[in-house]
Amino acid sequence: MSANNLFFSRFFLATAAIGCAGLAFSAEPDPARQKELVHLVRQDCGSCHGMTLKGGLGPALLPETLHDKPAEGLAATIYYGRPGTPMPPWKAFMSEAEAAWIVDKLMTEFPK
Ligand code: HEC
Repeated sequence: MSANNLFFSRFFLATAAIGCAGLAFSAEPDPARQKELVHLVRQDCGSCHGMTLKGGLGPALLPETLHDKPAEGLAATIYYGRPGTPMPPWKAFMSEAEAAWIVDKLMTEFPK
């Protein structure tokens, strides 16, 4: 292998490693974004699901009401909405990973 090839393979490995770190990181939004998402859920989702998420026009989003539902389905409901119901899609406002993070928090304890 020439010195040049060696340089490029090192470069490739380094970028691949950074890429993986970026992926692992994107599973959990950074703290500032978590705050924004919590605010969005309490304000915008709260207008239908209740400020305390106990339900209103939309069903309750509490751990006890969600625990037997598949998390991926709930995340898809948030991301894509439920056509034919008032539940709107939120994909313009968050990534799929962020929708999954919201579900994860709703199913355990949603931050204040
Ligand atoms: C305009 C009213 C409205 C808003 C705003 C809204 N929802 Fe909904 N949502 C609904 C309704 C109505 C349903 C029930 C749909 C159905 O009949 O299946 C629902 C269903 C859901 C479900 C599925 C619950 C289950 O038990 O299957 C989740 C999860 C959910 N919403 C999360 C959210 C989140 C998170 C937000 C904010 C990002 C949000 N919703 C904003 C009206 C709303």
